[in-house]
Amino acid sequence: MITIISATNRPGSHTLKLAQYYQQKLREKGTEAGLLSLAELPANLIQTDLYGKRSPEFMPIQDIITRTDKFLFIIPEYNGSFPGVLKVFIDACAYPESFYEKKAALVGLSSGKYGNIRGIDHFTGVCHYIHLNTMSLKIHIASINKEMDQNGQLLNADTLKFTNEQIDKFIKF
Ligand SMILES: Cc1cc2nc3c(=O)[nH]c(=O)nc-3n(C[C@H](O)[C@H](O)[C@H](O)COP(=O)(O)O)c2cc1C
Repeated sequence: MITIISATNRPGSHTLKLAQYYQQKLREKGTEAGLLSLAELPANLIQTDLYGKRSPEFMPIQDIITRTDKFLFIIPEYNGSFPGVLKVFIDACAYPESFYEKKAALVGLSSGKYGNIRGIDHFTGVCHYIHLNTMSLKIHIASINKEMDQNGQLLNADTLKFTNEQIDKFIKF
């Protein structure tokens, strides 16, 4: 099972639109993927789901993570790294079985110039620690406001080429 993680809970995020774009492109290539937005996390997660606690609201999310073999993380740049809510989410998931010896592809995006290069590097370190094997081809989409149209479609030829290559490799990964 494949799950795309939209790695922010910010309302109206570009991250969720990009996650939906990847889901649509995977479907066009005959591969179904679920989508989990971190906006769906329990509002009180830091009180109800850390350090051995498990709320009824989090159980279906844990179940999705446990059943997933391949993850696609779409990760925005927040203060030069990945969002704190993504780390809290990883910390809340059962260890090690949630991610151990599974596979992941990573996509960074930002409104600034760097497309979350540092955040993707930081998150790669976390992935290595939890034995989540990351695909070598990582995509960084800078200036996301100029890259996506009103319908959530990517516009730039280079970005289309590299995201398409990443999707093909992810299907085979
Ligand atoms: C808390 C926060 C911190 C941010 N820090 C950065 C940053 O360090 N560099 C950058 O290029 N954009 C930064 N941004 C802008 C995001 O990259 C931008 O909102 C982009 O659309 C991706 O995030 P989104 O999915 O929330 O829309 C930040 C946004 C937020 C909400």
